Amino acid sequence: MIIGILASGTGSNAQAILERINSGALQAEVGIIITNRAQAKVLEKAERFHIPSLVVERNSYPSRVSYDEALVAALKEKGCTAVILAGYMLVVGPGFLEAFPQRVLNIHPALLPAFPGTEGIKNAYYYGVKITGPSVHFVDEQLDSGPLIIQGALPVRQDESMEELAVRIHQVEHRIFPMAVQWLAEERLTISGRTVHLKPGSRALIPSPPETLIWPPLEEGF
Ligand code: GRF
Repeated sequence: MIIGILASGTGSNAQAILERINSGALQAEVGIIITNRAQAKVLEKAERFHIPSLVVERNSYPSRVSYDEALVAALKEKGCTAVILAGYMLVVGPGFLEAFPQRVLNIHPALLPAFPGTEGIKNAYYYGVKITGPSVHFVDEQLDSGPLIIQGALPVRQDESMEELAVRIHQVEHRIFPMAVQWLAEERLTISGRTVHLKPGSRALIPSPPETLIWPPLEEGF
């Protein structure tokens, strides 16, 4: 499976995916990394891992439709059959989703459906939740709303700062996102209504890290 990654920022999730590919755990290839921000740090990651990259700025296009068409064309040109939104701060439109039906994944740093939007960690923290963590889901036409694939739940520690919590959430993200991409590559995910079913695999299951519940469980190599 050749994947395209869309990212707007640091690219730590893109990096986690590339590392799992290099370790052999994730059987996929990254055809291209596309960002909408010329200064995004993810471009450095693309260079480091020798992945072709492209900056496609939203304001260079008259409409969202034409912008999405440009993205689809760049992804298809590299042979991508799935798309990973790894900190991509724009919403993809219906035309984009039609080009990759049930093949677009996103990661969100809160336990959806709670705290969607761009400030998931902050909103959950200041709400005072006791448990939070990242969610990986199929992308549909609404923001952070598609069927859930895997979630990681961790307790918010007493007196923990938001920054400390964010670090722990990102650590879980970097494990669950490559895992979900591998499940997609293995064609083990089916969607029934809002529910994603995971077909059994052959790798050993690994227990969740201390203080964390990851469900479904991670498999060897993740
Ligand atoms: C992550 O927290 C992800 O959940 C959210 O955007 C952030 C991206 O971080 N969608 P990075 O660019 O992968 O480091």
